[in-house]
Amino acid sequence: MITGGARGIGFAAAERMPRSGAGVVLWDIDEKRLTEAAERLAPLGTVSTSVVELTDEESVAKAAAAAIAAHGKVDILVNNAGITGGNGKLWELDPATWRRVLDVNLVGPYLTCRALVPGMIERGYGRIVNIASIAGKDGNPNASHYSASKAGLIGMTKSLAKELAQAGILVNCVTPAAAKTEIFDQMKQEHIDFMLSKIPMNRFLGVEEAAAMIGWLASEDCAFSTGAVFDLSGGRAVY
Ligand SMILES: NC(=O)c1ccc[n+]([C@@H]2O[C@H](COP(=O)([O-])OP(=O)(O)OC[C@H]3O[C@@H](n4cnc5c(N)ncnc54)[C@H](O)[C@@H]3O)[C@@H](O)[C@H]2O)c1
Repeated sequence: MITGGARGIGFAAAERMPRSGAGVVLWDIDEKRLTEAAERLAPLGTVSTSVVELTDEESVAKAAAAAIAAHGKVDILVNNAGITGGNGKLWELDPATWRRVLDVNLVGPYLTCRALVPGMIERGYGRIVNIASIAGKDGNPNASHYSASKAGLIGMTKSLAKELAQAGILVNCVTPAAAKTEIFDQMKQEHIDFMLSKIPMNRFLGVEEAAAMIGWLASEDCAFSTGAVFDLSGGRAVY
């Protein structure tokens, strides 16, 4: 189950899953892109989709029931959907935008975990991969809402991992630096330039590189890591 799987990093992760025998469920708010994504994935394996507003607990609960009806169970949850909320100094950002970023990037993953973790506990197995950001570790200027939401997601990952450490359910997060996806449309060019300037490898992350790490974290091969933060920053992270 991949949120925001209609495009970008989420879609790249979805393309990889059938290679390991996983059926794929995509949740996204963008119905048109969701349909296109499902058409591209259909030749690879089982795929189903739901149009979901991730900040709405009823929408999430309904989609969770549909996913279980279609696939019998959900063993893997990738909390990938996210928005930037644009760029500006903290005091220039309006409260509605600030709250919306927290809602989508942090409350959304809380709601999906709330809906799907009980089933994982019953079966004694699960893998949860949260897509945070280097911004959550470093704090990017002109992105206080985004940085705070991703720092929150890192904290949630660590708490939930400890709650589930003996339940067979591993919870980890990844912290990408910049990947050139459509999320760039939500940012100022000077902010994109700033992010690239901070990456020692001097290039953007490829979505397939993110998908490779997500795929491993979602697999049984990831067996003794939980509550961990996995770097995808081309050398930017120093801790
Ligand atoms: N691309 C980057 O530079 C980068 C860097 C670090 C972290 N990330 C994180 O990676 C994740 C994926 O980013 P991406 O670059 O693929 O972005 P993207 O904008 O290409 O894709 C995000 C997807 O999430 C969906 N979505 C947004 N709000 C939603 C909502 N309320 N309910 C349901 N779906 C919703 C969108 O429709 C879209 O399909 C995000 O969490 C992002 O913050 C991206």
